[in-house]
Amino acid sequence: MAQSPRPAGFYRQNDGQHDALVCDGVALAAIAAAEGTPLYVYSAAMLRERYQAIDGAFQGYPHALHYALKANSTLAIARLLRDLGSSVDANSVWEIEVARKAGFEPSHIVFTGVGKTPDELEAAVALGVKAINVESAGELARLEAIGTRLGRVVRVAIRMNPDIDANSHPHISTGLKINKFGVPLDEARALVQTLKSRPSLALVAMHVHVGSQITSLDPLRRAAALAAGVSLELQQQGFPLEYVDLGGGLGVSYDGGDVPSAADYVAALVEAVRHTSLPIVIEPGRAIAAPAGALVARVIDVKARTAESDFVIIDAGMTELMRPALYGSYHRIEPVAAPPAGDHHYEIVGPVCESSDVVGRDRRLPLLKAGDVVAIRDAGAYGSAMASNYNRRPLPAEVLVDAGAWRVIRRRQTVDDMLSLET
Ligand SMILES: Cc1ncc(COP(=O)(O)O)c(C=O)c1O
Repeated sequence: MAQSPRPAGFYRQNDGQHDALVCDGVALAAIAAAEGTPLYVYSAAMLRERYQAIDGAFQGYPHALHYALKANSTLAIARLLRDLGSSVDANSVWEIEVARKAGFEPSHIVFTGVGKTPDELEAAVALGVKAINVESAGELARLEAIGTRLGRVVRVAIRMNPDIDANSHPHISTGLKINKFGVPLDEARALVQTLKSRPSLALVAMHVHVGSQITSLDPLRRAAALAAGVSLELQQQGFPLEYVDLGGGLGVSYDGGDVPSAADYVAALVEAVRHTSLPIVIEPGRAIAAPAGALVARVIDVKARTAESDFVIIDAGMTELMRPALYGSYHRIEPVAAPPAGDHHYEIVGPVCESSDVVGRDRRLPLLKAGDVVAIRDAGAYGSAMASNYNRRPLPAEVLVDAGAWRVIRRRQTVDDMLSLET
């Protein structure tokens, strides 16, 4: 009898006696026992599935997926995506370096970022990346000077600020006039006209990115329509645009609520852009990486909080996963070796010396005790990438599970690693 294929990602397996959370079929408890906690675990199958769902949804419409490295740029993950045919969006010269180490060609890299230093710009020009997504008239002038000095024609896209509300958290909305990102629409149009007499700059695209964790198609559709409209206008004026860059931003379901499917998302973008005949570039990060990762942590202590609830103190907190403290964001938390449902009332907190170091507020879970291992779900994006050494906490180890086997893709940092930079 043919075996049914193993599901991708994180799911519960129950053999009648034990209930276990597994990643691509491997028990998280076993990985935690071998590698210790806190620990990031990623599913290669889920990364592939999420990438391919978006890529396949274009159904032949010309496009390029530039995975946003800021979501997670661990080398093995970048390499896995490169092997699938991905390109990348880099937000610093250091992300460009990581992309190069992961095997991405310069022509597969777009360089975004609201504050690129002159050194970063020069490195990107010298490398000859696919495009530098320009955030201001000043940045364009700096690029022009670099291009002239190096005798290069610099490929640029202008990032427009479309004044569109992404309706996501204020900290991750980027498309409003009051946000620091991009060039206001009128100014962008005027800036483009100056390019006619600036031979060291070549305009290859117009760019928009209105925010992250966007859970309704409307802002994405409106931003795409606007970028397509401006692009058509410029094509009609004789600007030989090569593509339109619609940024990233597609949200994921952290709490089981509805989010647009990859197919609906891509269909909306294609519908908005088709009349220009331009290929579409997108820069998804979260939608690919978030569900493919879990942060695995161990309970250190349980102590009374109120008459009805207890604190559960775990060995991962805002240093390993900053999102809850930074945005008040929600992540499912569940024990890895016991059924996930229960009616004990817990505040799940990290070990860091900040009262904002709360990983999960107001949770109902089965009884937890010191030594139990829990998984914080959907932590593959903006998790390890945002980790810090606050309280001198070492960066956690990272493990990639692939085809039923797992390997460490980043070893746990040591104090000596940290101190090696200091005198
Ligand atoms: C310019 C740009 N592109 C892409 C992304 C990736 O966004 P997301 O991870 O929401 O897809 C970001 C993140 O905010 C961004 O600023």
